[in-house]
Amino acid sequence: MDKIRVGMIGSGYWGPNLIRNFMDIPGSELVMVADLKQDRLDKIRRSYPTVLTTQDYTELFNQKLDAAVIATPPSTHHPIAKACLEHGLHVLVEKPLTLSSVHAEELIELAEKKGLVLMVGHTFLYNAAVLAMKDLIDRGDLGQVYYLDAARLNLGLFSRDLNVMWDLAPHDISILLFLLNKLPLAVSAHGLSCAFNGIHDVAYVNMVFPDNIMAHIHISWLDPCKVRRVTVVGSKKMAVLNDIEALEKIKIYDKGVEAPEYSNNFGEFQFSYRYGDILIPNIRLGEPLKVECQHFLDCIIKHEQPCSSGKVGLNVVKILESAQKSLSNSGHMEAIQW
Ligand SMILES: NC(=O)c1ccc[n+]([C@@H]2O[C@H](COP(=O)([O-])OP(=O)(O)OC[C@H]3O[C@@H](n4cnc5c(N)ncnc54)[C@H](O)[C@@H]3O)[C@@H](O)[C@H]2O)c1
Repeated sequence: MDKIRVGMIGSGYWGPNLIRNFMDIPGSELVMVADLKQDRLDKIRRSYPTVLTTQDYTELFNQKLDAAVIATPPSTHHPIAKACLEHGLHVLVEKPLTLSSVHAEELIELAEKKGLVLMVGHTFLYNAAVLAMKDLIDRGDLGQVYYLDAARLNLGLFSRDLNVMWDLAPHDISILLFLLNKLPLAVSAHGLSCAFNGIHDVAYVNMVFPDNIMAHIHISWLDPCKVRRVTVVGSKKMAVLNDIEALEKIKIYDKGVEAPEYSNNFGEFQFSYRYGDILIPNIRLGEPLKVECQHFLDCIIKHEQPCSSGKVGLNVVKILESAQKSLSNSGHMEAIQW
C-alpha cells in the first residue's frame, strides 16, 4: 500500500507534535502544513525542508491528499473539518471535536455519507496507563466501582477565548467514559474566573453515572502544582493513575473497609479497615500521540472506526454543553439527553 498523504492545518503549540509523528511514521507522507502565521510556517520549513507550507488551508485540496489533521483553535474545528470532509479527506481533528453537539453531529453524518474516517484527538485513549487502568476495572480487580476523581491542574496555559472546562476537561471526560464504558445521566459544574473576567480558569465538574457511580473532575489553570491524576475507588481495591510519574504511573492500593451489619450494641459495631500492599504494575510505555497517529492511518487502511471516533467526540461535547449550562446556572444539575 502506498503511503497515506497527510496535510496538517494548525502549527501552533500542539500541531508540531502531530507533525513530528506523521513525519516519523513510515506509513505516512506529510505533504503540506497550513497555518495563518508565516513565522510558524518558517519554523516548519527549517525543520522539514521537504514539506510544503501555506497560509491558506484550502491549498491542501490541490495536493491529492488522503487525510487532513487539524490542530487549530476549537472554534475553527467545525468549518475546517467540514471543508476537509467535503473534499473527500479523512480527518483527525483535535479535541474538543466542536463547540456544539449540532456541529459534531453534522460532521459525523458527513463522514458517514462520504465513507471517511472522522477521528478526534482524545490522546489519553492511546495512553498505556489509561489502558492498564481500564483492564484493572474490566477484570474486576477493583471490585464494584464506587467513584472516580480526576484532577488536571497547573499554572497556565491560559486561553482568552475558551474556558478551562472546554480546554482541559475533554481529556478527563474521555478517560472516564472509556474507563466506565457508560454515559453519565447528569452533570453539574461550579467554577470561578479569577484572572480574566468572564473566562472560568478553575472548575469542578460532577457527573452521575448509572449504577450509582459518581465522578468528579477538578480542572484549573490557576494552581501552584502540576497534577494529572485519576483515582478509582472500588469495593475491593483502589487505584491511582499519576500521569506526572515517569515510570510508576499506576499504584494499586489493597485498601478498603468492611462495615458490619447494623447493631444497636456499640461494642459490636466496629468497621474493619484493610491496609494491604501497594502494587505498582510494570507498564510498557510508548508515546501515546504516536499510537494515536498510527491508529488514524490503520483505520483509514482498514476502513474501521477509531477508538476516539466522531461519536466519542460527540459524547464529550454533549457533556461539556450540559456542564456549561450548569456553570452558567449556579451549578444546577443538568440531565443529559442521549
Ligand atoms: N491532545 C492534546 O493533548 C492537546 C494538547 C494541546 C492542545 N490540543 C488541542 O490542539 C488544538 C490547538 O491548540 P494549540 O494549543 O496548539 O493552539 P495554538 O493557538 O497554539 O495554535 C493554533 C494554530 O492554528 C493556527 N490557525 C488558526 N486558524 C487557522 C486557519 N484557519 N488556518 C490555518 N491555521 C490556523 C494559528 O495560527 C495557530 O498557529 C486545540 O483544539 C487544542 O484543544 C490538544
